[in-house]
Amino acid sequence: MEFLLGAATAAHQVEGNNRNSDYWVMENVPHSSFREPSLDALDHYHRYKEDISLLKEAGGNAYRFSIEWARIQPEKNEFDQNEIQHYREVIEFCLENDITPIVTLHHFTSPKWVITDGGWKSKNIIKFFSNYAEVIAKELGELIPFVCTINEANMGSQIYKVMRTMMDAGQGGSEQEKESMQVGIDLDEIKKTRAEYFKELAEIFGVAPNNINSFLDGRNKKEEVVMQAHQMACELFRKHSPSTKLGLSLSLYDYQAVDGGEKNVEKEQQEDFFDYLAYLKNDDFIGIQNYSRKVFNKNGLVKDDEDVRMTKMGYNFYPEGIGNVLKFVSKHWDKPLLVTENGISTDDDTERVEFIEKALKGVQECLDDGISVVGYTYWSLMDNFEWQLGYEQTFGLIAVDRETQKRYPKPSLAFLGSRKISPK
Ligand code: BGC
Repeated sequence: MEFLLGAATAAHQVEGNNRNSDYWVMENVPHSSFREPSLDALDHYHRYKEDISLLKEAGGNAYRFSIEWARIQPEKNEFDQNEIQHYREVIEFCLENDITPIVTLHHFTSPKWVITDGGWKSKNIIKFFSNYAEVIAKELGELIPFVCTINEANMGSQIYKVMRTMMDAGQGGSEQEKESMQVGIDLDEIKKTRAEYFKELAEIFGVAPNNINSFLDGRNKKEEVVMQAHQMACELFRKHSPSTKLGLSLSLYDYQAVDGGEKNVEKEQQEDFFDYLAYLKNDDFIGIQNYSRKVFNKNGLVKDDEDVRMTKMGYNFYPEGIGNVLKFVSKHWDKPLLVTENGISTDDDTERVEFIEKALKGVQECLDDGISVVGYTYWSLMDNFEWQLGYEQTFGLIAVDRETQKRYPKPSLAFLGSRKISPK
Protein backbone atom coordinates (compact mmCIF):
# COMPACT_ATOMS: atom_id res chain seq x y z
CA MET A 1 0.00 0.00 0.00
CA GLU A 2 1.15 3.52 -0.77
CA PHE A 3 2.28 5.50 2.29
CA LEU A 4 -0.61 7.62 3.57
CA LEU A 5 0.41 11.27 3.71
CA GLY A 6 -2.01 14.01 4.58
CA ALA A 7 -3.51 16.08 7.36
CA ALA A 8 -5.97 15.80 10.23
CA THR A 9 -8.86 17.75 11.71
CA ALA A 10 -11.54 17.09 14.33
CA ALA A 11 -15.20 17.93 13.78
CA HIS A 12 -15.74 20.32 16.67
CA GLN A 13 -12.58 22.26 15.91
CA VAL A 14 -13.47 22.99 12.29
CA GLU A 15 -17.11 22.31 11.40
CA GLY A 16 -18.97 25.00 13.38
CA ASN A 17 -22.26 25.03 15.28
CA ASN A 18 -21.89 21.77 17.10
CA ARG A 19 -24.85 22.79 19.19
CA ASN A 20 -25.86 19.49 20.73
CA SER A 21 -22.45 18.78 22.19
CA ASP A 22 -21.14 19.11 25.73
CA TYR A 23 -18.49 21.58 24.50
CA TRP A 24 -21.13 23.92 23.11
CA VAL A 25 -22.58 24.10 26.61
CA MET A 26 -19.19 24.60 28.26
CA GLU A 27 -18.19 27.34 25.83
CA ASN A 28 -21.41 29.29 26.12
CA VAL A 29 -22.32 29.50 29.81
CA PRO A 30 -21.73 32.99 31.26
CA HIS A 31 -18.69 31.96 33.35
CA SER A 32 -17.18 29.72 30.68
CA SER A 33 -13.56 28.70 31.15
CA PHE A 34 -13.05 28.92 27.38
CA ARG A 35 -11.33 32.02 26.05
CA GLU A 36 -13.91 32.20 23.28
CA PRO A 37 -16.67 29.94 21.88
CA SER A 38 -16.24 27.90 18.69
CA LEU A 39 -19.31 29.42 16.95
CA ASP A 40 -19.13 28.88 13.15
CA ALA A 41 -15.56 27.60 13.44
CA LEU A 42 -14.26 27.30 9.86
CA ASP A 43 -17.61 26.20 8.50
CA HIS A 44 -15.92 23.02 7.33
CA TYR A 45 -19.33 21.35 7.65
CA HIS A 46 -20.34 23.19 4.48
CA ARG A 47 -16.89 23.74 2.94
CA TYR A 48 -15.34 20.29 3.31
CA LYS A 49 -15.10 19.85 -0.46
CA GLU A 50 -12.97 22.95 -0.85
CA ASP A 51 -10.75 21.93 2.08
CA ILE A 52 -10.22 18.34 0.95
CA SER A 53 -9.57 19.55 -2.60
CA LEU A 54 -6.81 21.85 -1.35
CA LEU A 55 -5.18 18.88 0.36
CA LYS A 56 -5.47 16.80 -2.78
CA GLU A 57 -4.12 19.53 -5.08
CA ALA A 58 -1.09 19.84 -2.83
CA GLY A 59 -0.37 16.13 -3.26
CA GLY A 60 -1.88 14.62 -0.11
CA ASN A 61 -3.55 11.20 -0.27
CA ALA A 62 -5.08 10.84 3.22
CA TYR A 63 -7.46 12.87 5.35
CA ARG A 64 -8.14 12.17 8.99
CA PHE A 65 -11.32 13.73 10.34
CA SER A 66 -13.95 12.91 12.91
CA ILE A 67 -17.63 12.13 12.77
CA GLU A 68 -19.44 14.23 15.35
CA TRP A 69 -21.39 11.96 17.69
CA ALA A 70 -23.58 14.87 18.86
CA ARG A 71 -24.79 15.37 15.29
CA ILE A 72 -25.46 11.69 14.67
CA GLN A 73 -27.22 11.16 18.00
CA PRO A 74 -28.44 14.54 19.25
CA GLU A 75 -30.78 12.87 21.75
CA LYS A 76 -30.43 9.54 23.48
CA ASN A 77 -33.09 7.88 21.37
CA GLU A 78 -32.56 9.67 18.11
CA PHE A 79 -30.20 8.87 15.26
CA ASP A 80 -30.26 11.59 12.63
CA GLN A 81 -30.29 10.08 9.13
CA ASN A 82 -29.53 13.44 7.50
CA GLU A 83 -26.30 13.70 9.47
CA ILE A 84 -25.35 10.12 8.64
CA GLN A 85 -25.90 11.06 5.01
CA HIS A 86 -23.69 14.14 5.45
CA TYR A 87 -20.74 12.05 6.62
CA ARG A 88 -21.43 9.48 3.89
CA GLU A 89 -20.97 12.31 1.39
CA VAL A 90 -17.75 13.48 3.06
CA ILE A 91 -16.31 9.96 2.93
CA GLU A 92 -17.44 9.45 -0.65
CA PHE A 93 -15.89 12.75 -1.67
CA CYS A 94 -12.57 11.56 -0.23
CA LEU A 95 -12.81 8.25 -2.05
CA GLU A 96 -13.75 9.85 -5.38
CA ASN A 97 -10.62 12.00 -5.04
CA ASP A 98 -8.28 9.16 -4.12
CA ILE A 99 -7.96 10.45 -0.59
CA THR A 100 -7.97 7.69 2.01
CA PRO A 101 -10.39 8.64 4.80
CA ILE A 102 -9.18 7.91 8.33
CA VAL A 103 -12.27 8.39 10.46
CA THR A 104 -12.27 9.14 14.19
CA LEU A 105 -15.49 8.33 16.02
CA HIS A 106 -14.80 10.40 19.12
CA HIS A 107 -12.52 13.41 19.27
CA PHE A 108 -13.08 14.86 22.77
CA THR A 109 -16.69 16.07 22.26
CA SER A 110 -19.80 14.10 23.24
CA PRO A 111 -23.53 14.71 22.93
CA LYS A 112 -24.67 16.69 25.95
CA TRP A 113 -27.11 13.93 27.00
CA VAL A 114 -24.09 11.68 27.54
CA ILE A 115 -22.89 13.99 30.31
CA THR A 116 -26.35 14.00 31.88
CA ASP A 117 -26.21 10.20 31.88
CA GLY A 118 -22.88 9.95 33.69
CA GLY A 119 -20.29 11.01 31.11
CA TRP A 120 -16.90 9.34 30.75
CA LYS A 121 -16.53 8.11 34.30
CA SER A 122 -19.70 6.06 34.29
CA LYS A 123 -19.91 2.54 32.91
CA ASN A 124 -22.95 3.68 30.91
CA ILE A 125 -20.57 5.13 28.38
CA ILE A 126 -19.50 1.65 27.27
CA LYS A 127 -22.96 0.92 25.93
CA PHE A 128 -23.65 4.44 24.68
CA PHE A 129 -20.44 4.74 22.71
CA SER A 130 -20.50 1.24 21.27
CA ASN A 131 -24.13 1.67 20.17
CA TYR A 132 -23.15 4.76 18.25
CA ALA A 133 -20.11 2.96 16.79
CA GLU A 134 -22.36 0.11 15.69
CA VAL A 135 -24.70 2.48 13.88
CA ILE A 136 -21.75 4.02 12.02
CA ALA A 137 -20.44 0.55 11.18
CA LYS A 138 -23.79 -0.55 9.75
CA GLU A 139 -24.36 2.65 7.80
CA LEU A 140 -20.90 3.66 6.67
CA GLY A 141 -18.45 0.94 7.72
CA GLU A 142 -17.77 -0.57 4.34
CA LEU A 143 -16.74 2.84 2.99
CA ILE A 144 -14.15 3.41 5.73
CA PRO A 145 -10.70 1.77 5.51
CA PHE A 146 -9.43 3.05 8.90
CA VAL A 147 -11.39 3.85 12.04
CA CYS A 148 -9.80 5.46 15.07
CA THR A 149 -12.42 4.89 17.76
CA ILE A 150 -11.27 7.33 20.44
CA ASN A 151 -8.81 10.17 20.05
CA GLU A 152 -6.11 10.22 22.72
CA ALA A 153 -7.71 7.66 24.96
CA ASN A 154 -5.07 8.45 27.59
CA MET A 155 -5.66 12.22 27.67
CA GLY A 156 -8.05 12.27 30.66
CA SER A 157 -5.42 10.71 32.86
CA GLN A 158 -2.62 12.91 31.45
CA ILE A 159 -4.66 15.96 32.34
CA TYR A 160 -5.35 14.61 35.81
CA LYS A 161 -1.64 14.17 36.44
CA VAL A 162 -0.82 17.73 35.43
CA MET A 163 -3.70 19.14 37.48
CA ARG A 164 -2.63 17.17 40.53
CA THR A 165 0.88 18.57 40.33
CA MET A 166 -0.38 22.09 39.80
CA MET A 167 -2.90 22.02 42.63
CA ASP A 168 -0.38 20.66 45.06
CA ALA A 169 1.32 23.83 46.18
CA GLY A 170 3.93 21.87 48.10
CA GLN A 171 5.32 20.26 44.97
CA GLY A 172 7.86 22.07 42.82
CA GLY A 173 7.86 22.03 39.06
CA SER A 174 4.27 23.06 38.52
CA GLU A 175 5.20 25.90 36.14
CA GLN A 176 7.18 23.42 34.13
CA GLU A 177 4.21 21.05 34.04
CA LYS A 178 2.07 23.89 32.83
CA GLU A 179 4.44 24.69 30.01
CA SER A 180 4.62 21.10 28.92
CA MET A 181 0.83 20.61 28.74
CA GLN A 182 0.21 19.30 25.27
CA VAL A 183 -3.40 19.98 24.38
CA GLY A 184 -5.29 23.30 24.45
CA ILE A 185 -6.21 23.38 28.11
CA ASP A 186 -6.04 26.64 30.01
CA LEU A 187 -4.41 25.50 33.21
CA ASP A 188 -4.55 28.93 34.83
CA GLU A 189 -8.31 28.82 34.40
CA ILE A 190 -8.53 25.33 35.84
CA LYS A 191 -6.50 26.41 38.86
CA LYS A 192 -9.04 29.07 39.79
CA THR A 193 -11.99 28.03 41.89
CA ARG A 194 -14.78 28.21 39.43
CA ALA A 195 -17.89 27.62 41.45
CA GLU A 196 -20.07 29.70 39.10
CA TYR A 197 -18.91 27.82 36.02
CA PHE A 198 -19.66 24.41 37.46
CA LYS A 199 -22.94 25.58 38.91
CA GLU A 200 -24.05 26.79 35.50
CA LEU A 201 -22.96 23.56 33.84
CA ALA A 202 -24.60 21.45 36.52
CA GLU A 203 -27.91 23.15 35.89
CA ILE A 204 -27.81 22.52 32.15
CA PHE A 205 -26.49 18.97 32.32
CA GLY A 206 -28.76 18.13 35.27
CA VAL A 207 -26.00 16.61 37.40
CA ALA A 208 -24.15 17.70 40.54
CA PRO A 209 -21.37 20.28 39.96
CA ASN A 210 -18.72 17.74 40.96
CA ASN A 211 -20.10 15.10 38.64
CA ILE A 212 -19.58 16.68 35.23
CA ASN A 213 -17.53 14.12 33.37
CA SER A 214 -16.71 15.38 29.95
CA PHE A 215 -13.94 13.51 28.09
CA LEU A 216 -11.17 15.95 29.04
CA ASP A 217 -12.10 16.15 32.71
CA GLY A 218 -9.17 14.57 34.49
CA ARG A 219 -9.57 10.92 35.47
CA ASN A 220 -7.39 9.33 38.11
CA LYS A 221 -7.95 5.72 37.14
CA LYS A 222 -6.28 3.93 34.28
CA GLU A 223 -9.06 4.81 31.86
CA GLU A 224 -10.68 1.39 32.31
CA VAL A 225 -14.09 2.63 31.27
CA VAL A 226 -12.71 4.44 28.24
CA MET A 227 -10.80 1.36 27.17
CA GLN A 228 -13.78 -0.93 27.63
CA ALA A 229 -15.83 1.45 25.51
CA HIS A 230 -13.14 1.17 22.84
CA GLN A 231 -13.11 -2.63 23.00
CA MET A 232 -16.86 -2.97 22.79
CA ALA A 233 -17.02 -0.47 19.93
CA CYS A 234 -14.38 -2.43 18.00
CA GLU A 235 -16.18 -5.71 18.55
CA LEU A 236 -19.43 -4.34 17.15
CA PHE A 237 -17.77 -2.44 14.34
CA ARG A 238 -15.91 -5.51 13.17
CA LYS A 239 -19.11 -7.53 13.12
CA HIS A 240 -20.66 -5.22 10.53
CA SER A 241 -17.54 -4.11 8.69
CA PRO A 242 -14.83 -6.75 8.85
CA SER A 243 -12.60 -5.01 6.32
CA THR A 244 -12.20 -1.77 8.32
CA LYS A 245 -8.87 -1.49 10.17
CA LEU A 246 -9.57 -0.55 13.79
CA GLY A 247 -7.51 1.24 16.42
CA LEU A 248 -7.44 4.21 18.76
CA SER A 249 -4.92 6.98 19.24
CA LEU A 250 -2.67 7.80 22.19
CA SER A 251 -0.96 11.04 23.13
CA LEU A 252 2.68 10.06 23.60
CA TYR A 253 5.52 12.35 24.62
CA ASP A 254 9.08 11.52 23.75
CA TYR A 255 10.27 10.86 27.31
CA GLN A 256 14.00 11.31 27.82
CA ALA A 257 16.14 10.58 30.88
CA VAL A 258 19.15 12.59 32.06
CA ASP A 259 21.14 12.36 35.31
CA GLY A 260 19.48 9.30 36.74
CA GLY A 261 15.99 10.06 35.40
CA GLU A 262 15.36 6.54 34.07
CA LYS A 263 12.94 5.50 36.82
CA ASN A 264 10.85 8.62 36.27
CA VAL A 265 10.77 7.98 32.54
CA GLU A 266 9.70 4.39 33.11
CA LYS A 267 6.88 5.57 35.35
CA GLU A 268 5.61 8.00 32.71
CA GLN A 269 5.81 5.38 29.98
CA GLN A 270 3.94 2.94 32.16
CA GLU A 271 1.12 5.41 32.82
CA ASP A 272 0.88 6.78 29.29
CA PHE A 273 1.43 3.65 27.26
CA PHE A 274 1.91 0.27 28.92
CA ASP A 275 -1.26 0.58 31.01
CA TYR A 276 -3.23 0.64 27.76
CA LEU A 277 -1.53 -2.10 25.78
CA ALA A 278 -3.49 -4.99 27.22
CA TYR A 279 -6.71 -3.49 25.87
CA LEU A 280 -5.37 -3.21 22.32
CA LYS A 281 -4.65 -6.87 21.61
CA ASN A 282 -7.35 -7.21 18.96
CA ASP A 283 -6.66 -3.87 17.29
CA ASP A 284 -5.18 -3.52 13.82
CA PHE A 285 -3.08 -0.40 14.43
CA ILE A 286 -2.21 2.23 17.03
CA GLY A 287 -2.64 5.90 16.17
CA ILE A 288 0.42 7.77 17.43
CA GLN A 289 0.16 11.45 18.42
CA ASN A 290 3.25 13.34 19.43
CA TYR A 291 4.00 17.04 19.75
CA SER A 292 7.05 17.35 21.95
CA ARG A 293 9.32 15.76 24.52
CA LYS A 294 9.66 15.77 28.31
CA VAL A 295 13.02 15.39 29.97
CA PHE A 296 13.33 13.87 33.45
CA ASN A 297 16.20 13.69 35.91
CA LYS A 298 16.09 11.80 39.19
CA ASN A 299 14.10 14.58 40.86
CA GLY A 300 11.42 14.89 38.19
CA LEU A 301 10.67 17.02 35.15
CA VAL A 302 13.68 19.12 34.12
CA LYS A 303 13.13 22.83 33.72
CA ASP A 304 13.90 24.13 30.23
CA ASP A 305 16.96 26.31 29.79
CA GLU A 306 16.06 29.84 28.80
CA ASP A 307 17.46 29.37 25.33
CA VAL A 308 15.47 26.22 24.55
CA ARG A 309 13.38 26.69 21.41
CA MET A 310 9.65 26.78 22.15
CA THR A 311 6.53 26.53 20.00
CA LYS A 312 3.65 28.98 20.22
CA MET A 313 1.93 26.47 22.54
CA GLY A 314 4.76 26.96 25.02
CA TYR A 315 6.45 23.57 24.88
CA ASN A 316 9.74 22.42 23.33
CA PHE A 317 10.13 22.60 19.56
CA TYR A 318 11.03 18.97 19.02
CA PRO A 319 10.26 17.44 15.61
CA GLU A 320 12.58 14.52 16.38
CA GLY A 321 9.98 13.35 18.93
CA ILE A 322 7.76 11.50 16.48
CA GLY A 323 10.53 9.25 15.17
CA ASN A 324 11.66 8.46 18.71
CA VAL A 325 8.14 7.61 19.83
CA LEU A 326 7.54 5.35 16.82
CA LYS A 327 10.75 3.49 17.62
CA PHE A 328 9.78 3.13 21.27
CA VAL A 329 6.27 1.85 20.52
CA SER A 330 7.49 -0.54 17.84
CA LYS A 331 9.51 -2.41 20.46
CA HIS A 332 6.27 -3.39 22.17
CA TRP A 333 3.84 -3.62 19.25
CA ASP A 334 4.33 -5.58 16.06
CA LYS A 335 1.32 -4.43 14.06
CA PRO A 336 1.11 -1.23 11.97
CA LEU A 337 1.50 2.26 13.41
CA LEU A 338 -0.23 5.28 11.97
CA VAL A 339 0.84 8.80 12.87
CA THR A 340 -2.59 10.31 13.41
CA GLU A 341 -1.25 13.66 14.71
CA ASN A 342 2.04 15.54 14.79
CA GLY A 343 2.46 19.25 14.23
CA ILE A 344 3.42 22.68 15.44
CA SER A 345 1.62 25.90 16.29
CA THR A 346 3.67 28.78 14.91
CA ASP A 347 3.10 32.08 13.11
CA ASP A 348 6.21 31.47 11.05
CA ASP A 349 5.40 28.98 8.32
CA THR A 350 9.09 28.41 7.50
CA GLU A 351 9.33 26.97 10.99
CA ARG A 352 6.45 24.59 10.17
CA VAL A 353 8.24 23.50 6.99
CA GLU A 354 11.36 22.82 9.06
CA PHE A 355 9.28 20.88 11.60
CA ILE A 356 7.63 18.73 8.92
CA GLU A 357 10.91 18.04 7.16
CA LYS A 358 12.59 16.87 10.37
CA ALA A 359 9.56 14.91 11.55
CA LEU A 360 9.26 13.07 8.23
CA LYS A 361 12.97 12.33 8.28
CA GLY A 362 12.34 10.50 11.56
CA VAL A 363 9.41 8.62 10.01
CA GLN A 364 11.51 7.62 6.99
CA GLU A 365 14.26 6.34 9.30
CA CYS A 366 11.71 4.14 11.05
CA LEU A 367 10.59 2.73 7.69
CA ASP A 368 14.21 2.11 6.75
CA ASP A 369 14.60 0.21 10.01
CA GLY A 370 11.68 -2.02 9.00
CA ILE A 371 9.11 -0.50 11.37
CA SER A 372 5.61 -0.72 9.94
CA VAL A 373 4.45 2.91 9.76
CA VAL A 374 1.57 3.14 7.32
CA GLY A 375 0.87 6.86 7.31
CA TYR A 376 1.34 10.36 8.67
CA THR A 377 -1.41 12.96 9.02
CA TYR A 378 -0.10 16.37 10.05
CA TRP A 379 -2.07 18.31 12.68
CA SER A 380 -3.76 20.25 11.31
CA LEU A 381 -5.10 20.85 7.83
CA MET A 382 -6.32 24.30 8.94
CA ASP A 383 -5.80 26.77 11.77
CA ASN A 384 -8.65 25.86 14.07
CA PHE A 385 -10.35 25.97 17.47
CA GLU A 386 -7.76 24.91 20.02
CA TRP A 387 -10.28 24.03 22.75
CA GLN A 388 -10.05 26.26 25.83
CA LEU A 389 -7.41 28.39 24.12
CA GLY A 390 -9.75 29.38 21.31
CA TYR A 391 -8.59 30.42 17.84
CA GLU A 392 -5.26 32.03 18.66
CA GLN A 393 -3.15 28.94 18.11
CA THR A 394 -2.06 28.28 14.53
CA PHE A 395 -1.25 24.66 13.74
CA GLY A 396 -2.66 24.80 10.22
CA LEU A 397 -1.30 24.20 6.74
CA ILE A 398 -4.08 26.53 5.66
CA ALA A 399 -4.97 29.86 7.29
CA VAL A 400 -8.63 30.85 7.38
CA ASP A 401 -10.10 34.32 7.59
CA ARG A 402 -13.05 33.59 9.86
CA GLU A 403 -14.91 36.75 8.80
CA THR A 404 -15.05 35.72 5.15
CA GLN A 405 -14.23 32.01 5.59
CA LYS A 406 -11.69 32.40 2.81
CA ARG A 407 -8.89 29.81 2.81
CA TYR A 408 -5.23 30.79 2.43
CA PRO A 409 -2.98 27.78 1.89
CA LYS A 410 0.45 28.26 3.45
CA PRO A 411 3.67 27.11 1.70
CA SER A 412 3.87 24.24 4.23
CA LEU A 413 0.81 22.62 2.59
CA ALA A 414 2.58 22.25 -0.75
CA PHE A 415 5.75 21.22 1.07
CA LEU A 416 3.99 18.41 2.92
CA GLY A 417 2.22 17.22 -0.23
CA SER A 418 5.48 17.07 -2.17
CA ARG A 419 7.28 14.76 0.29
CA LYS A 420 8.00 11.25 -0.84
CA ILE A 421 7.94 8.71 1.95
CA SER A 422 8.42 5.09 1.09
CA PRO A 423 9.00 1.79 2.75
CA LYS A 424 12.46 0.49 1.89
C1 BGC B 1 -5.67 16.94 19.98
C2 BGC B 1 -6.12 18.06 19.05
C3 BGC B 1 -5.41 19.34 19.40
C4 BGC B 1 -3.93 19.11 19.21
C5 BGC B 1 -3.05 20.33 19.37
C6 BGC B 1 -4.18 16.95 20.24
O1 BGC B 1 -3.98 16.55 21.55
O2 BGC B 1 -6.08 15.70 19.50
O3 BGC B 1 -7.51 18.17 19.16
O4 BGC B 1 -5.87 20.42 18.67
O5 BGC B 1 -3.51 18.15 20.15
O6 BGC B 1 -2.97 20.77 20.68
